[in-house]
Amino acid sequence: MATYSRLIVHAPHEKIVIEIEANASGQRLTEWLRRADLPLNTRCGQRGLCDGCLIELVSGPLIRADSGQVLDGADGPMLVQGCQCCPVPGSDATLQVPGRSLLAHRPQVVTSFRIDVCRAHDPLWQRITLDVEQLADRSDLVSAACETLRHHRSRKPQEVPVEPDPELAAWLALERPVHALILEHRGEHWVLKPDPDSPDAESFGVAIDVGTTTVVAMLVDLSTGQIRNTASALNGQARLGDNVLTRINQCLQKPEMVRRMQHAVCHNTIRPLLTELVTESGITIEQLKTVVIAGNTTMLHLVAGVDPSPLGTAPFTPAFIEHRVLAARSLSLLPPTSEPGPSDAKGIADRSRNLKASDPSVHLLPGAAAYLGADAIAGVLSTGMAYRDQPCLLVDVGTNGEIVLKQGDRLLGCATAAGPAFEGAGLTSGVRAGDGAISHIRLDGETAEPEIEVIGRRPPIGVCGTGYVDFIAEGRVSGLIGPTGRFSDRFAQHPRLVHQANHRGFEIEQCSDGKGIRITESDIASLLQAKAAIAAGIVCLLRRAELRPEEVATLYLAGGFGFHMNIDSVLRCGLLPGFAGEQIELVGNSSLAGAFVALMDSGVLEEMKEIAQRLEMVELNLEPDFESVYIDQLSLA
Ligand code: FES
Repeated sequence: MATYSRLIVHAPHEKIVIEIEANASGQRLTEWLRRADLPLNTRCGQRGLCDGCLIELVSGPLIRADSGQVLDGADGPMLVQGCQCCPVPGSDATLQVPGRSLLAHRPQVVTSFRIDVCRAHDPLWQRITLDVEQLADRSDLVSAACETLRHHRSRKPQEVPVEPDPELAAWLALERPVHALILEHRGEHWVLKPDPDSPDAESFGVAIDVGTTTVVAMLVDLSTGQIRNTASALNGQARLGDNVLTRINQCLQKPEMVRRMQHAVCHNTIRPLLTELVTESGITIEQLKTVVIAGNTTMLHLVAGVDPSPLGTAPFTPAFIEHRVLAARSLSLLPPTSEPGPSDAKGIADRSRNLKASDPSVHLLPGAAAYLGADAIAGVLSTGMAYRDQPCLLVDVGTNGEIVLKQGDRLLGCATAAGPAFEGAGLTSGVRAGDGAISHIRLDGETAEPEIEVIGRRPPIGVCGTGYVDFIAEGRVSGLIGPTGRFSDRFAQHPRLVHQANHRGFEIEQCSDGKGIRITESDIASLLQAKAAIAAGIVCLLRRAELRPEEVATLYLAGGFGFHMNIDSVLRCGLLPGFAGEQIELVGNSSLAGAFVALMDSGVLEEMKEIAQRLEMVELNLEPDFESVYIDQLSLA
């Protein structure tokens, strides 16, 4: 009997043989493949919870590490999780590793977000080359090409199928040995179509977070996953209403507002952002191939031009919540093109023109409920919390605060109307985080004299969310601000305290135009309402799960403020009641992070759909003690 076993591994571009001594065969396949320089996508940390590490057992046996069950390739090829299976001592096994199960990227930290899961390289739009000469059955090239790809991609029986584009047959019939083709995810299927561009033309995708107040777009190189550029702007809908309920009500009262809101976000906000990304990066619009959008449910309705009115009245039923694929030009995200010329089989050149004029697909990510949207699901995925064993919490601070708790196999979520204060909107000197924004404020413990930090080393123009959180925390410690959020009488004669009609403001800085940058008592009241809404949501969700804050292993704090939030200030102002600094991890814009991972790994998109389906919604307005908790949290005691 052989004293060793062998793994014969077929990977996309190589075949390797791994020899294993019998006494070492207890190691998992993921470990053997990692040592052979074929690391798999183990995004759930090898706990058997994701589909990242699936490989095909073609022949021979494997053994399941947990149960000892022997899986035999003689029963027919089967898909197995590499992290759950080991070689059988003394027996050879043949494995097929699909390209999409190979690890492409480990967790990543970039300027605006952190991703805590690994991912494969399997973008929603990809250029592939097919050696036609190698196709087994050349009598029907289209079927043979699709079959080759299906086999290459094979994962699960319910895998999204590959279907040919009508132009494909003519293209494959050309007498060329190697053909560049495009594989494009269309939601229900992948479409395989000819590539009109030169084989090495760069192609780009865009990940977008459509927030109620701010929209951020990120240009990504689809062949490498490299982030090339980022741009952001205020959501053009903001002047039609500063929160989702106002916008929903407007649509309810005047149906024509749906079209206006769609125009405001698509034509007036996202389109200029795409133009900016393209222009600044020196590429062309034609190089944009696909777009992925995350956002709350109302925002995605309005992007799609769908009436969100049902979200405003019980039972709050969304018109759609599932993943949707639309066309960029029909949404007015890109300028229209001239009509393509006739396509009457006059040749590939004509067909190429048509293809170039085609619309990039726009993927709207799946959400869970009316008030727990794709932005929250994107955060659950990108933080990796869906795969963690210990209880953890995602708190996304935005105009619509979203909170998700992972406890065992359960995912519980709630949403709370925080308003736009933490994004600097609606406040006397509030600005978005960007050049010139005061991002940090320290107050002298005795004199309350401020010391400021400004983004981009520019003259200050206003205060952004992180600056306000600092001000409240420091103001409370120095005694400048009392427990109710009013300036304390002890500082009534402070030279920076400006008395206005019915409230007072504290002048932080003078702008170059002579105007003061002030924080008023009414600003503090808006901020306290926002913090109370989020804090009460956290308290109620934990109570529902019968968990205490100290039992939560990690609290992922997400929001457009990126990594600039001072955790001490967050804790001192009571945004995260009962939590300690070591439990908190800043993850930045987790909605944008999720859109980026979905753009680059179609397997992640499928897992987002599953997460969305199993997330249980807790309606805070039906929680008996929400109101009293909210009132308690309004104070700075
Ligand atoms: S790493 Fe194997 S199932 Fe997730």
